[in-house]
Amino acid sequence: MKTIIIGAGVAGLSVGWKLAQAGLDVLVLERAQPARAATWAAAGMIAPTAESAHANADETQFARWSAELWPEFAAQIEAQSGRQIGYRRDGALIVAATQDAAEQLRAQSTKTLLTADEARAREPLLGGNIVGALWDSEEAQVDNRALGIALASAFVRAGGKISSNEAAVRIEVRDDRLVVQTPFALYPADKVLIAAGAWSGEIEMDVAVLPTARPVKGEMLALIPPQGTLPPKQVVWGNGVYLVPREGRLLIGATMEDTGFDTALTDKAEAWLTDRAVGLMPSLTSWKIDEHWAGLRPGSPDNLPILGETRIKNLFVATGQFRNGILFAPAIAETVSRLILGSAAPEIRGFAPQRFAEVS
Ligand code: GLY
Repeated sequence: MKTIIIGAGVAGLSVGWKLAQAGLDVLVLERAQPARAATWAAAGMIAPTAESAHANADETQFARWSAELWPEFAAQIEAQSGRQIGYRRDGALIVAATQDAAEQLRAQSTKTLLTADEARAREPLLGGNIVGALWDSEEAQVDNRALGIALASAFVRAGGKISSNEAAVRIEVRDDRLVVQTPFALYPADKVLIAAGAWSGEIEMDVAVLPTARPVKGEMLALIPPQGTLPPKQVVWGNGVYLVPREGRLLIGATMEDTGFDTALTDKAEAWLTDRAVGLMPSLTSWKIDEHWAGLRPGSPDNLPILGETRIKNLFVATGQFRNGILFAPAIAETVSRLILGSAAPEIRGFAPQRFAEVS
């Protein structure tokens, strides 16, 4: 059975890897380079607790399940690619600057709420203007840039093929088969998965299967510490940003802007991220900016994932991960590969593409 996946990000590659392992003939068409868009720009957090403030019940349940799948998913990717992806369950501190925020955290989670002194004992770089912090020892992270390379390698080792710099521009139904058109070729396929992140809605079709795309820009910084200073041991959230220790650097994220497909780096975002991070950890003022980058989150009209078969038979979609593309990868791989294989898949009806009136 010939399957075409549009998009070589973490979702497309994860599903493709599962399908290739199941013996399917899988080709991934990638408009640019594999895992170089949102997968590369992300912070790599596997943070169902910290992100639950933005989530509804379906999404929280999906996030928790995906976080549980992550250790085995990571081990399999490493074993099959021969590459390390830096999965670490080091926990996260979610800092509250006011009593109200602390109460909100207490309501959001059953995890331990630390006093300000206890939080600073765990993370000495924290400043004085906090009232407490939620400590979740199960929050994790992965090196998302290493993950993208390893996933592509595991997929190819499992027999999958990737065609880079080849954008899908149109999908048609011809004689009960799907045909994907690129600038270079027509590819007939039995099944097609659109997993093109923020670009998923850009493919021309005779009927709409996806709502209008909503790219949500995020700018990030990486700081390097002065000689002799160690970065924090765990992820820290607070003051509107998150700080992620990675390979001797500290990543600071992220802005959220609806500015279309714009990925320009701005002084305004650099200043905002720096101010917020220094507000949380005053000594960061002496750390140097090592990198500044931007990516586009795949948003959806209701900020929930869009997963499943579309109104066109055998045409599937996996997009709308919004802030959680890395976190959701194992659960998307599991559910969407099972749907494509025609085997029983866990319930994801709340994420069906048909929930949007414009495509039902
Ligand atoms: N997951 C964090 C972000 O999207 O900024």
